[in-house]
Amino acid sequence: MIVLGIESSCDETGVALVQTTIDGGGSDLGLPVLMAHALHSQIEMHQAYGGVVPELASRDHIRRVIPLTEAVLSQAGVKHQDIDVVAYTRGPGLAGALLVGAGVAAGLAAAWNKPLLGVHHLEGHLLSPFLSQDPPTFPFIALLVSGGHTQLMQVNAVGDYRLLGETIDDAAGEAFDKSAKLLGLPYPGGPALARLAQSGDAKAFALPRPLLNSGNLDFSFAGLKTAVLTQTQRLGAALSERAADVAASTQDAIVEVLIKKSLRALAQTGLKTLVVAGGVGANRSLRERLDAQCLALGVRVCYPELHLCTDNGAMIAMAAAMRIQAMPGMRLARDDAFDVQPRWPLQQLSKTH
Ligand code: KG4
Ligand code: ZN
Repeated sequence: MIVLGIESSCDETGVALVQTTIDGGGSDLGLPVLMAHALHSQIEMHQAYGGVVPELASRDHIRRVIPLTEAVLSQAGVKHQDIDVVAYTRGPGLAGALLVGAGVAAGLAAAWNKPLLGVHHLEGHLLSPFLSQDPPTFPFIALLVSGGHTQLMQVNAVGDYRLLGETIDDAAGEAFDKSAKLLGLPYPGGPALARLAQSGDAKAFALPRPLLNSGNLDFSFAGLKTAVLTQTQRLGAALSERAADVAASTQDAIVEVLIKKSLRALAQTGLKTLVVAGGVGANRSLRERLDAQCLALGVRVCYPELHLCTDNGAMIAMAAAMRIQAMPGMRLARDDAFDVQPRWPLQQLSKTH
């Protein structure tokens, strides 16, 4: 079975083809495999505005999605007749951006007479490490860290997700982005701040680690942003020489909280595998420190491949394919109807879809 996946929830248009490995008798032969994927990032377009402009995002998705679809079909040597299911990101995300992907997916599905499947964006991130060379096995703890979400989940199987803790205000990616903005760095702030932090002293400024010792698995990052603002104001003209130190100290605070809470989730559940997914999972400092601490504890850490940490179509096609494989009786609709869910908690996803 071949699944076409379309991602358009924010500022990347991603399209991919994934093939499930089900034999003629319906037996599951293993994990679905990626056949082709193509991505267009809108970063350059939004950079002039210092952040994502939703209307521009929607318009650009419209321009990109069909050429990207043609590109993956030709890369994989697949004809549209060979596609079995068209999947799209149903939410969460920007309503207009989601509607573009959903509308195009529904149009293609209707024209090709194929079923349509809406996918949860965070389930895509969560299952993206299954596209790597060294995939995890269930059950595991997932640290989902993106621009809009920071959550710890216990993942028992496809569709079986238990929320253990989440941010009560800003997401980790948002903390990176907002702090970067205060340092005058370009959007998207996370990678820019991480780059600058490489030449800074992480212990230069003592920034708050909210809820670090709260005993639960929730996060809070809004106070950190305020502390960075205060610090930049205090530095005044000296900020330009100390920006790398502020960046390194900020990254240190975010990374320390993410690691401590992840290790607590592992200890509380007794699980020995941690999956890190979402854009912030690309952060090198987070990876290096997690790897070292988990090695010492005998915990296995799995990441998506670096280029699949941020939004992409491969994770959407993969989540759809894994759902189809895990739920053989799932009803695949052919009714041309589609919807989007700009706000959609992951734990509302049921096993039956
Ligand atoms: O998952 P993602 O691509 O989009 C959402 O679903 O939100 O995550 C984007 C977030 C942004 O906040 C971005 O600044 C952050 O991930 N990010 C990073 C890094 N790469 C991306 N944060 C820290 N270090 C990085 N290397
Ligand atoms: Zn994302």
